[in-house]
Formats: sequence, C-alpha cells, structure tokens
Amino acid sequence: MTQILEPGSLSGRRALVTGSSRGVGADTVRYFAEAGADVVVNFRNKAPRAEKLAAQLRELGVRALVQGADLTDAESLAGMMAEIQAEFGGLDILVLNASGGMESGMAEDYALQLNRDAQLAVLDAALPLLGEGSRVVFVTSHQAHFINTTPTMPEYEPVARSKRAGEDALRARIPELAERGIEFVVVSGDMIEGTVTATLLNRLNPGAIEERREQAGRLYNVAEFAAEVALAAVEPVPEGHTRLVGDTSSFGG
Ligand SMILES: NC(=O)c1ccc[n+]([C@@H]2O[C@H](COP(=O)([O-])OP(=O)(O)OC[C@H]3O[C@@H](n4cnc5c(N)ncnc54)[C@H](OP(=O)(O)O)[C@@H]3O)[C@@H](O)[C@H]2O)c1
Repeated sequence: MTQILEPGSLSGRRALVTGSSRGVGADTVRYFAEAGADVVVNFRNKAPRAEKLAAQLRELGVRALVQGADLTDAESLAGMMAEIQAEFGGLDILVLNASGGMESGMAEDYALQLNRDAQLAVLDAALPLLGEGSRVVFVTSHQAHFINTTPTMPEYEPVARSKRAGEDALRARIPELAERGIEFVVVSGDMIEGTVTATLLNRLNPGAIEERREQAGRLYNVAEFAAEVALAAVEPVPEGHTRLVGDTSSFGG
C-alpha cells in the first residue's frame, strides 16, 4: 500500500471507520493512521483481525482504539461512542463504511437494518462527538448508488436498495449537518476485485467480475478504493456531495 495522505497531515485528528477489521475499512483506517490520525477500528465479529491491525497502527505512533460493536444494536453502538468519548474526547472524521446484507441466517430485513437504519443510528450517536469542521463520509457501490436507474444482479438487489435508502436518508440530513459545520461526502465505487462480496457475487453469477472489468475498462482493488475513501475525508467536498470513483458511463453517470 502506498502512502496516500501527507504524513502528519492528520496529526491530532481522530477518525472512526466503521467495519474496519478488514476490506476497504481496514485500508482506510491505515491511510488515516499513516497521516498521523488517532483511529478507532470497529468490527462486529473479527476481533483478532481488528486487534492485529490496531497493533500495527500503534507502531506508527498513533493511538488505535479497538471497538467491537454491532451497529444494528443500539446498546452496543452507544457503548462504542461512550468509549470513544472517554478515550479520544471527540471525532473529526466518521467514515460510514460497514455494510452487509448477504449474510446467511439474518432477519429478512437485515440489509435495511444495517445499511439504512444503523447508518442513521451511527450518525446520531456520533453527532455529540463531531465538532465544527468535522467530516462524515458514506461509502457505497455504483450498483447501489445507481440502483434507481441501472438494474443489478438479483442477489445484490436488496443490498443495493437498502444502501441507496441509507444514502438518501443520510443526504436528507445534510442541511442539519451543515448548520453544525459538519461536511458530508458520499463515495461510490464499482465492484472491487478480491472482496468477499464481489467473490460471492461472481460465484453466483459466473463471469460477473470479468464483464464489469470489460465494461469499466478496469476495476479498483481494495487499497485503491480505500485511497479514494481516505481522500474523500480530506479533499474539498465535491459537487453534489458525491465522489464517483472510476468509470460510470455504463451507469449513466
Ligand atoms: N466489495 C465491493 O466490491 C465493494 C464495491 C463498492 C463499494 N463497496 C463498499 O465498500 C464498503 C466496504 O466493503 P467491503 O467489501 O470492504 O466490506 P467487507 O469486507 O464485507 O467488510 C465489512 C466490514 O463491516 C463490518 N460489519 C459488517 N456488519 C456489521 C455490523 N452489523 N456492525 C459492525 N460492523 C459490521 C465487518 O466486520 P467483521 O469483520 O467483524 O465481520 C467488516 O469489517 C461497503 O460500504 C461497500 O458497500 C464495496
């Protein structure tokens, strides 16, 4: 992974990336720590991975707090925010990255619970910690962002709709966030090679990744997409609060 943000540019800043035990979240939190930020690594199940990552980040000289919290559980979420308040005293960057909905054995409306309701709940729980000049970033996929105009694979459709519902609900909060001096950015990207979700979708729809790669010209890997998420937390807020990553021509973007 190459360094993306200026070393020291986030010194004294505090960042929470939800779902940062693995995948995009883990690389995003690493970019923040490399730039000097104190970070919170949040996970639901993968405690050893989260602890291992935090130990590596501490070697960079930053504070890394590990917080196991199921974001769909109000008590668990409140506990995490209380710990962050006690340890860090606030937050400057909140990345809403955690996502799901294709796990087996969950309630029928789990995708909506996690990708819409929990995103709002995290924002609400974090609001008292977010001061003026802080930034909230919501991470999504093109397949979700453009779901109202571009169909996706049937297995992903409930997730896509729930993530779009989460994005819409968060966007409705932009005026209130602006009043508090909190900025908001959505980052959307195509299928990412090597991720659990893309691998699963490709297994259910053989050739899906290859097809997307051909349509888009190229697909980003985890580190490359995470770099875009990290930059979205620090660069000026783009037009329409939206950072579209890679080619979106086949989505009408
Ligand atoms: N994968 C893609 O192809 C792709 C493409 C475009 C955009 N994105 C977006 O990028 C983001 C990250 O995707 P990813 O593929 O890196 O995800 P991932 O590998 O599936 O990781 C999901 C993360 O969310 C955590 N998580 C899941 N449910 C949770 C819950 N209820 N409470 C707290 N944490 C929870 C997981 O924790 P545990 O490890 O403990 O389970 C994990 O850290 C998502 O918003 C996704 O929509 C992904």
